[in-house]
Amino acid sequence: MTNPRREYTAFAQHYDTLGGDRFAARMVPYLMRQLRRRGVTPRRVLDLCCGSGTALTAFAEHGLTGCGVDRSPTMLKLARAKLSAVGMPVYRSTLPLITLPKRELLKPFDLVTAMFDSLNYLPNLGSIGRTLSEARKRVAPGSWLVFDMNLLPVYRDYWDGLHWSREVDNIMTVWRGHYEPRQRRGTIDMALFERRGRSWRRRDERHVQYAYRVGEIRSAVTAAGWRVRHAWECFTTSALSPRSERGVFFCQNPTRNR
Ligand SMILES: C[S@@+](CC[C@H](N)C(=O)[O-])C[C@H]1O[C@@H](n2cnc3c(N)ncnc32)[C@H](O)[C@@H]1O
Repeated sequence: MTNPRREYTAFAQHYDTLGGDRFAARMVPYLMRQLRRRGVTPRRVLDLCCGSGTALTAFAEHGLTGCGVDRSPTMLKLARAKLSAVGMPVYRSTLPLITLPKRELLKPFDLVTAMFDSLNYLPNLGSIGRTLSEARKRVAPGSWLVFDMNLLPVYRDYWDGLHWSREVDNIMTVWRGHYEPRQRRGTIDMALFERRGRSWRRRDERHVQYAYRVGEIRSAVTAAGWRVRHAWECFTTSALSPRSERGVFFCQNPTRNR
């Protein structure tokens, strides 16, 4: 692989075709169900790392308004096309900065989300903490933050040594993964082949994510001023274990008098 491009350039164009939209489509009903069980009905969502906009579309179906941010122009283009019908805007912003136009801040958000291991792209706990505290500045007391993260077993047992390929709709992807335990850094080198008549056009990109321990994630949440209300196996209400591959964190911004 020579000169791979950064994450979500070539791959982003085919994100939904390759099934990238399925996670958010499953996550939104799950998290809305969990919030409703606690008597919470969010009205206005800020989706961090909104990607191709699937979660925002699903939130609109649940009656929410709001907006998203992401650093990938290609993802934002997909999201804008998808979201024009529901009138939710998305903005370019690179976490830990959350740059929004002033008009978006006139009404505070009451739900912040970051789905599909987006926060694992942040290279250290400092940037996770800063992201969460930036998010907290934009919400009302009592608001919720829900995010999922890949946990260590995913990188150690799945990414390391991964060699996987798939062909869908004239697009072939080949993934090769490895994990460096000392840096707790997982890398997937993706080769993307698009059929052009009788030939294939190849583009490469590299995805780098970082593994964090559950205790570290909890500490970053707490240091940013949020309270962790639940830390579960994603899509369940089961407690996390050392074997958990993906955790979901339901956190709340404390109300003033708490
Ligand atoms: C796995 S995708 C998830 C997209 C979407 N949340 C979903 O559920 O389909 C990860 C997203 O995080 C975005 N991302 C990664 N690092 C980022 C950063 N530092 N700032 C903003 N967006 C980032 C990528 O551009 C990409 O759209």
